[in-house]
Amino acid sequence: MKNTIQFQKMKKNGEKISMVTAYDYPAAKLAEAAEVDMILVGDSLGMVVLGYNSTIEVTIEDMIHHGKAVTRGAPNTFIVVDMPFMSYHLSLEKAMENAQKIMQQTNAQALKVEGASEDTLTLIRKLTEAGVPVVGHIGLTPQSVNVLGGYRIQGKDKETAKQLIIDAEKLESSGAFSVVLECVPDRLTKHISKHVSIPTIGIGAGKDCDGQVLVYHDILQYGVDFKPSFVKVYHEAGSDIKDAITQYHQDVKSGEFPDDKHTFDMDEQLANDLNL
Ligand code: KIV
Ligand code: NA
Repeated sequence: MKNTIQFQKMKKNGEKISMVTAYDYPAAKLAEAAEVDMILVGDSLGMVVLGYNSTIEVTIEDMIHHGKAVTRGAPNTFIVVDMPFMSYHLSLEKAMENAQKIMQQTNAQALKVEGASEDTLTLIRKLTEAGVPVVGHIGLTPQSVNVLGGYRIQGKDKETAKQLIIDAEKLESSGAFSVVLECVPDRLTKHISKHVSIPTIGIGAGKDCDGQVLVYHDILQYGVDFKPSFVKVYHEAGSDIKDAITQYHQDVKSGEFPDDKHTFDMDEQLANDLNL
């Protein structure tokens, strides 16, 4: 398993960091077999595996339930779990308690929080002191979708671009060991990545990040309704799975399945004895 020191070294050496989300045991196993550097149990699970409308409905219990499955599936991969909506905003004490719950119950290696407010920076400092590595997340922060007014690129004007640079600096100085940049223009990504010494992990942020993260179900087109423009599709798993299930359905209807190969036979003598 790689660790936070190695991630820093990878940045120094110009070696890109690969991260993918996973939300359950089989996905975690496959991501580990693919030798990705890090797995994120993102609160995107609310949309891609639970069918919620946004990440706002995701609870601590959801994160723990899925986090546990992922750590069981990828015991040798560095795993980051998102702290969900409002689980770190009520008070520092409540935030620390929630962080403790997630860390102790999931067995993950690190947590991720969105934004760079003073309270969040204080939390990052406290968590790091307590031995919990923290990933920051700025740019498009989906938990604030209702404040941002939608899912759209951030840092497009002078004010917000400058703010993102400042936020990245603040995250670094508060102890975050890495920062996700979501939906940020490439030139700004490049500047921030040069400017801070912690690795930047991009999603919709161009090639100049120190690493990349994508949502598992997006790259596989597995049960998703919508494909963001920054997603590269590596396999049409959803349509493959649908075709396979359709075939099964038809085989059951036609009697094609099960055939002899998929059936247990009985000892001839026993069958005779029983008059079967
Ligand atoms: O929840 C998530 O999947 C994320 C990534 C998109 C960074 O936060
Ligand atoms: Na997230």
